[in-house]
Formats: sequence, structure tokens, C-alpha cells
Amino acid sequence: MCGIVGYIGHREAYPIVLKGLQRLEYRGYDSAGIALYDEKELKVSKTKGKVADLKAKMESEVDTSGTLGIGHTRWATHGVPNDVNSHPHISNSGNLVVIHNGIIENYESLKKELTKRGYKFESDTDTEVLVNLIEDVILKEKVKLGKAVQIALNQTVGAYAIAVFDKSKPNEIVVARLGSPLAIGVGDDEYFIASDASPFIEFTNNAIYLEDGEMAVVRRHKGVKVRKIFDDSLVDPYIHELQLNLEQIEKNNFDHFMLKEIYEQPSAIKDTYRGRLHAEEGIIRMAGIDDNLERFLNARRIVIVACGTSWHAGLVAEYIFEDLARIPVEVEYASEFRYRNPIINSDDIVIAISQSGETADTMAAIKLAKEKGAFVFGVCNVVGSSISREANAGAYTHAGPEIGVASTKAFTTQITVLTLIALKLAKAKGTISNTDYHMHLQELETIPQKIEIALEENDHIKEVAFKYKDARNCLYLGRGFNFPVALEGALKLKEISYIHAEGYPAAEMKHGPIALIDEEMPVVVIATRKGHYEKVVSNIQEIKSRQGKIIGIVTEGDTSVRDLADYVIEVPDTIEALTPLLTTIPLQLLSYHIAVMLGKNVDQPRNLAKSVTVE
Ligand code: AGP
Ligand code: GLU
Repeated sequence: MCGIVGYIGHREAYPIVLKGLQRLEYRGYDSAGIALYDEKELKVSKTKGKVADLKAKMESEVDTSGTLGIGHTRWATHGVPNDVNSHPHISNSGNLVVIHNGIIENYESLKKELTKRGYKFESDTDTEVLVNLIEDVILKEKVKLGKAVQIALNQTVGAYAIAVFDKSKPNEIVVARLGSPLAIGVGDDEYFIASDASPFIEFTNNAIYLEDGEMAVVRRHKGVKVRKIFDDSLVDPYIHELQLNLEQIEKNNFDHFMLKEIYEQPSAIKDTYRGRLHAEEGIIRMAGIDDNLERFLNARRIVIVACGTSWHAGLVAEYIFEDLARIPVEVEYASEFRYRNPIINSDDIVIAISQSGETADTMAAIKLAKEKGAFVFGVCNVVGSSISREANAGAYTHAGPEIGVASTKAFTTQITVLTLIALKLAKAKGTISNTDYHMHLQELETIPQKIEIALEENDHIKEVAFKYKDARNCLYLGRGFNFPVALEGALKLKEISYIHAEGYPAAEMKHGPIALIDEEMPVVVIATRKGHYEKVVSNIQEIKSRQGKIIGIVTEGDTSVRDLADYVIEVPDTIEALTPLLTTIPLQLLSYHIAVMLGKNVDQPRNLAKSVTVE
């Protein structure tokens, strides 16, 4: 996610690049760095921490002159956040300097090959492999930087937005984009590179947005030449005249980070299974599981510890693990687990789920589990976070920074990781047929597109939100895999609109909550055509007969619930275990629109913190 900034022109590059990185801080990052060239020497400074730390370090270490510069804010994916792993990365010759957003999936095989050819690596990153691959192409093929970048990228698999320059030819920057955004600001004989327009909007509102699979050579005095990376055809770039202001750009033109992150879920899920899910070959690659497979296969049970939304993801995982892999799973609130003297043994596996990787209760729970001899596996979104380092092994979600306090893309990417683990274990244990295994893998690949379809209901969901925004209480009901989604939907509404809401297993209604039902009570019922559909329809009838207001979350084309409910919101059909990835989308949007209509602070709700690092 993080950020890329570059400048080539007639001004001093440093102040522009530094301010550009400050403009990109909102995207979330763990380290930062800048490289400058002043016709004589290359100056590079980089550090774990904030842009302010980089500024202090750079200005104490180097002369910041030069009209060519690139800068980077890193969101680590390969290699923990530290100074060495920060960008820019330099090739072995010392000539090439690269910054990169994204993931080079096949970096290990490339690194092996380059090491054989004598290349040395300082960092643990995939990016340092890329810059030396480009150098290797220049030396072997005797081509210019632009061509070398193109040849090198044709040998990589993954996602990238990169900027690279050669200090021996300082009149050009080469950029390329596949899967991560990259814009080129076109000034008066000066050019800006950035992940979005916020770093250069004050200098020019003329921007070229590279499309996926495009690259450009940006030359001083000569302009921008764009071509396609994979078929070498030239592209006539369209120059947008931007009318955006800074705040609009930071939120990618969404009104709030939460809405932006809801809409990022298709790409976040793709990034999370990238390099792991190989549906064609029927393979799931996850180093943290592969290296500990016997331990997982012989585990007596799995205990999941988490808080809040992450705890809900754990509940979904319980249904998926037990249904597919037939492994006993218990899900515990970390805050309860840590104090109740739980029975934990060395043949237990504890999975800790945490977006921030810093939640105090979850950290305390895994320390207790380790003291009692359990093996701890972390599912975190922040590389190098405390929980990810405390765990014995783990798998990161690659959701990118989640800025909104209300967790959205973290939830669906956590479920994605946990589903991959459950399928991998089910295959290894033989508890799933080959046909079902392959079907699950292929269906998982369709989920990003199906979320895009679910998001198209946004305007309809807004109407429903308007109808029920003044409710004092709300019930969310679901069964099976969607019972945890009912809990999550209720939490979303509570935490950003401050309306009291409760999630319940649909069948529990008759054991008390049905006493609450009257014409003032909206009831959101997840009634996809999977699992216990007929029973959920009966529950809806019970509610209707007591004048409850029903909002049905249904499989597209449903008619039975449509005839009974006051409103229905459709999601595409999918296999039962994957329905939570779709049914949660309308619940996120419903709570978002109600909160906005009530004038609440959606991104920073009252009394809440993004990461609860205290008890
Ligand atoms: C969910 O929207 C809240 N932000 C909160 O419940 C959160 O899920 C909980 O605090 C756990 O945070 P973590 O995933 O970073 O550990
Ligand atoms: N994969 C690269 C790294 O871990 C880039 C991460 C990013 O997008 O900042 O350094």
C-alpha cells in the first residue's frame, strides 16, 4: 500500500520528495527512505519509523542537494521493518536505485539465481532482488535502463509500482505499474512520480495515471514515453486535468477511510491469496503452515484467541476448520482467556488473530499459551508487529493499512487466510474430497469479483439505511457460518452509529430475544440459500408475525424471503463456507450509511482506538 514519490526537473528534489512522503503518511507505513542525486554523488538515507525520523537522519547525514530524487514509505511484506529493509534499495554496482510498492512473488527463485551469479544481498526484501535483476539484465543484454526494467519485469510474478534510476545516467527515471497505483505529474519541464496525486497537486494538476501492465521512461527535457511492459507496444498517455483537493485524494475520492477500505476488499483479498492460492494446480502455499504441517495435523485442538472483529473472524474459522478439516476448534476472547487459568497443553495450537498485531489482551493471551507449552500461530496485518514477532509462526493478511477504526478489510482478509489454512489441512488430512477441494479453491478465486457485485447494491443499501437510521435497537440474526457475521454486523452498527445492536443465532430467537420484537425493531436476517435456509425462513415468519421489520441478506434471485421481508439486499451465490466473505459486505455498508446519516465520526468513533494496546 504505502507510498512512492519521485522528482526530476529543475528544482531541488529533496523538499518536494520529503513533503510528498508526508502527504502519503495517511496510507500507513512502518519505515521511510529517500535517495538524491546531484550530478556528483548518490545520497541515500532510510530508517525504520516515521518520515520525521527520516528527515532528521537525512539532514544530519547527507547534503540534500540534487534535482533528481525518489522517496518511499514502506509497508513491509518481506522482511521486518528495520533500516536495512527500508527502501530505496541499491544494486550491487551502486548505480541503480529502486523503490517499490507491492510483492514480487517469485523473488526467492530469482534471488537463488542471482546469488549463483555472485550477487550479494543486504536485506531480506523482495525489492532488493528486483534491483539486482535489472542490473543483471543491463550487464547481460547491454541494454538501456528502460529496456532492462521491461525485460526484468517480464521475469517477475507479483504486484508492483516501482521507480528506478541509474546514477550514471541521471536524466531519467523509469517507472512501472502492475497492481499498485502510480501517477506521473507533468509540470513545466519537470516531472513528478507518486502513488497518488497528493505529493504533486500543488505543483501541477496534469497527471498521467499508468494502467496495470504499463511502464514509462520519464526524461528531463524530453518528457514521458509510455509503453506496455508485456507486449512492448507504445501507449499514447492521456493527461488528466485534476480538479481534486488534497483530502479527496487521500481518501481516493471516498468520503471516509472506512468506505475506501470497504471498497478495497476485492483487491485486499487478491493480495492476501496472491502467491498462496494456486487453484489451477490445486496447491496452497503457506510457509508458516508448510514448515509446521505435522504439528497442525497432530494437534489435539486449535484454540483461537482474539478480540472484537478479529474474534468474529475466529468464530467463522471455527465453522470452517471443523467442517472441512475436522479439527476441534475453540474460540476464546483473549481478555477472558488470559485470566481464567485455561487448560492448555503442548499438543494444542493457539491461533492469535489481530489486525494491528498490538492488542494487549491478545498479546497477553499468547504469552500465557506459550508458557503452558502451546505452539502459537499469528494472523496479523502489520508485518513485524509485536504479536507477529511473539508467535512461533504465522501468516500475514495483505490488506494494506486499515485506517478506519471500524475493521472491514481486515475481517475479510483474516477469513481468507484462515480458509486457506483450513483447506490446506483438510487436503493433508484427507477430510475433503478432491472435487470439493478444487471447487473451494476455484470458488475462492471468484470471491473478489463477487464482492464487486455485492458492492453494486450500495445505493439500495443507502435507501434501507435511511429507513432505519433512527432505530433505537437492532437485531442481527444468522445461522451456521453466518452466525458470526451477524455478530460482526451488530458490532459495526454499534461502534460507528452508537445504535444498540445484538447478533444472535437465528434459532435462539425463541429462547428470549423474540420478546423484543415489535414494529420498532429492525431485524437484519442473513438468509443466503445455503445451510439451513428453510429454517431461517421460518425464523423470519416468526418475526413478521410479531410486526418486526425485516431486512433480509439473500442470495441473488431469492423470492421466498423477498415475499416476507420489508427489504432484501442481494449477494451473489457461493459455496456455504465462503458466504461470510459476501454477506458481511452489505452489513458494513448499512452501518456506514446509517452512521453518516446520523452525522457520526465514522473513521474515529467516540471512545474507540484503532488498536487497544492497553488492558
Ligand atoms: C472492530 O471494528 C474494532 N476496531 C475492534 O473490535 C478490533 O477488531 C479489536 O480491537 C481487535 O483489534 P486487532 O484485530 O487489531 O487485535
Ligand atoms: N515487498 C516490499 C517490501 O516488503 C515492498 C512493500 C511495500 O509495498 O512497501 O519491502
